[in-house]
Amino acid sequence: MSKKHVQLSWQNDTVPVSNKFEDYYYSLENGLHEANYVFIDGNSLQKRLSHGFQIAELGFGTGLNFLATCAAWNKASKAGKFNFVSFEGYPISNSDLRKAHLLFPELSEYAEMLQTRWDEIIEGNLVDFGYANLKVFVGDVSKTLKVFNSKVDCWFLDGFAPNKNPEMWEDNILQMVALKTKPGGSFSTYTAVGHVRRTLEKVGFEVTRKKGFSKKRHMIHGIKISDD
Ligand SMILES: C[S@@+](CC[C@H](N)C(=O)[O-])C[C@H]1O[C@@H](n2cnc3c(N)ncnc32)[C@H](O)[C@@H]1O
Repeated sequence: MSKKHVQLSWQNDTVPVSNKFEDYYYSLENGLHEANYVFIDGNSLQKRLSHGFQIAELGFGTGLNFLATCAAWNKASKAGKFNFVSFEGYPISNSDLRKAHLLFPELSEYAEMLQTRWDEIIEGNLVDFGYANLKVFVGDVSKTLKVFNSKVDCWFLDGFAPNKNPEMWEDNILQMVALKTKPGGSFSTYTAVGHVRRTLEKVGFEVTRKKGFSKKRHMIHGIKISDD
């Protein structure tokens, strides 16, 4: 494995676990169901997705949330193209990417393209999937978010758990997230931990708590109130 890729372990030989952050990339129960519940439904994407819609994500990982969005787009037979940008500091290797995707055969038509173009993607190149443009900003989020000069319709906040990966949930990161959100834009995340919820409120989101995925008590989602 190349040195530039992060080292993983595997739970049940199927779900990737970060050695660096000692956390799972997604639910052990069903990562795709979780992505659909937390991020697709959490941002009401089935009804909001349209040509030119701009999604941004903190933590690309295996790309599962991107693949779930591709599936939602195609299921809804939307015309045109959506834009997806993600911020990732520690890209996984192509072989780990392929191994992670094996658990989701229903996503294979989207996953294949991601696997084939992975080297370009983690070089930071924009890749055109036909129905989506994907660009991953590679590097520490505290630096890469600063060079992203756009406002988006929707955020997927998907760092590892806040107690294991506090860098992804710091006030200044969530402040930049808010600044780079259109008025009326949204976010969702699987965590409802108090300091994250309060910071998201402080930086300008109207935050709602709802039942979390599976055994999780709560998750949060929110809408950017105005642009002041
Ligand atoms: C929970 S995983 C994301 C799972 C991913 N969305 C998926 O669909 O597989 C969190 C991700 O955040 C990344 N990350 C953690 N700290 C970071 C930082 N400071 N800057 C950029 N990325 C970071 C990790 O490398 C990891 O890929």
